[in-house]
Amino acid sequence: MRTPMMVGNWKMNNDNDEAWELASAVAEGAGTLEGCQVVLCPPFTALTTVSDALENTDLALGAQNLYWENSGAYTGEISAPMLTSCGCEYVIVGHSERRGRFGKPPAEEALLSVFGDNDATVNRKVKAALAGDLIPIVCVGELLSERQAGKTDEVVSTQVLAALDGLAEDEIVDVIFAYEPVWAIGTGEVCEAEEANRVLRLIRDLLAEKVGDDEAEHMILLYGGSVNPSNIRGLMEQPEIDGGLVGGACLKAESFIELAEVAAEVKGE
Ligand code: PGA
Repeated sequence: MRTPMMVGNWKMNNDNDEAWELASAVAEGAGTLEGCQVVLCPPFTALTTVSDALENTDLALGAQNLYWENSGAYTGEISAPMLTSCGCEYVIVGHSERRGRFGKPPAEEALLSVFGDNDATVNRKVKAALAGDLIPIVCVGELLSERQAGKTDEVVSTQVLAALDGLAEDEIVDVIFAYEPVWAIGTGEVCEAEEANRVLRLIRDLLAEKVGDDEAEHMILLYGGSVNPSNIRGLMEQPEIDGGLVGGACLKAESFIELAEVAAEVKGE
């Protein structure tokens, strides 16, 4: 009853030539795949290129971030209307890299929050996305230290509720949440499938309190963090996991297509 979804977050990878090549290869392999909605999220600079490559396919386009105002003196920012004019239907909001919560800090401590997203800005961005006809894919997840301190459920619940603050029920039902434990992102250390399922159930229960059981059961929930072809089947076999938000493994067409195919196969059984 929920169509699985595989979202490729390209992060800061691929110039326009490379973007054309990768998107065309994914389009060729998964362009008519049934039973899984595939979404490509290239960098802003490649949105129109990828949009062209996805023409006449069932694949959808998403962005990796947005700003909450529609226009104005906000140097370097990109708004919802700009994204939809490039063909975007989705936008990732509050990725842990944008919240400055890196799994393995690659930068000096002082630079960790350079992108500056927090629960309040995530909430504004979710509202701006919905108002601009974009489906927000909201990332939530705990740091390793928070998990070790037994705070996973508290951190995730706080992030989910903050993201939804002030939204009406008919807006909430369009939001997609991705559980992305920060320690699992880009580390090769995937979260146990049962544990990811447990946290997503917790999120669905929170959503049910907002929109009711029936509506919550229809909402798409994703897992992200070191998803790859060797662990996707076990993840998709979990009842609450409707798909993946994929970084590293989406940069090769072959492995990303395989993820989408397995998602369609497992959920189609
Ligand atoms: P990863 O990234 O698949 O490389 O761990 C996932 C993400 O950051 O969304």
